[in-house]
Amino acid sequence: MLDPCPHWPYPKLIAHRGAGRQAPENTLSSMRFGAQHGFTMMEYDVKLSKDNIAILLHDDSVDRTSSGTGSAAEKMFVELAQLDFGSWHSRDYAGEPIPTLHSIAAYTQANGILSNIEIKPSTGTEMETGKQIARLAQRLWANAEIPPLLSSFSEMALQAAMEEAPELPRALLIEKEVPVDWQRRAERLGCTGLNLNHKYATLHLVRSIRKAGYTLAIWTVNDPARARELLDWGCNAIVTDEIQTISPAYFI
Ligand code: G3P
Ligand code: MG
Repeated sequence: MLDPCPHWPYPKLIAHRGAGRQAPENTLSSMRFGAQHGFTMMEYDVKLSKDNIAILLHDDSVDRTSSGTGSAAEKMFVELAQLDFGSWHSRDYAGEPIPTLHSIAAYTQANGILSNIEIKPSTGTEMETGKQIARLAQRLWANAEIPPLLSSFSEMALQAAMEEAPELPRALLIEKEVPVDWQRRAERLGCTGLNLNHKYATLHLVRSIRKAGYTLAIWTVNDPARARELLDWGCNAIVTDEIQTISPAYFI
């Protein structure tokens, strides 16, 4: 009812961490898997290596999703490049490398795929990560018709991103209950939208955020009925792991 929205040039369905369940999350393979299933936008997590290379990784440490151990922020990119980011998922993906934001920018733009770059700073690096990733995204997407949407749970990272690349759209990620002063926070950070946890999304909240002129993407929605409900309520998009049952072929 509130669409089309000038601040939402993106599709209604976004693949979470690429297709981060069917293939190793936050890798080029997960982007390809999502694209093969009709997804035209990917959400992925980006942070910095010790030598300030922007890499895709969800956790602070590499333990869960690679053959290595330890904090990504304490490793040079050349060390990260030697780890296997695929075998933890399945042997089909053995040898999967950690992607850089450079490689994902190349793949997505060559294939008409839009990006939600979640700035996910390693603890203690919020300002630097926000600044570096915004600067790099601005450069890598300089010729893109539709810019990447930057989002973060870290208000410090969003502030640094705003100062570095004010023209890139930003959304404030909120982990739990939406604070009563959400609009003041979003305004201060120049955010045009909120990205909320679906567990806390109610009809009243969705209506009031959309009525205030902000976009709303909801994560991580893996039940098709809930996805339909949220879109019917007026959410602009949902972020999902369920790329087969919540398919762009059915949810238009
Ligand atoms: O950006 C939405 C969602 O990805 C936030 O949660 O922990 O999966 O990065 P997480
Ligand atoms: Mg994320």
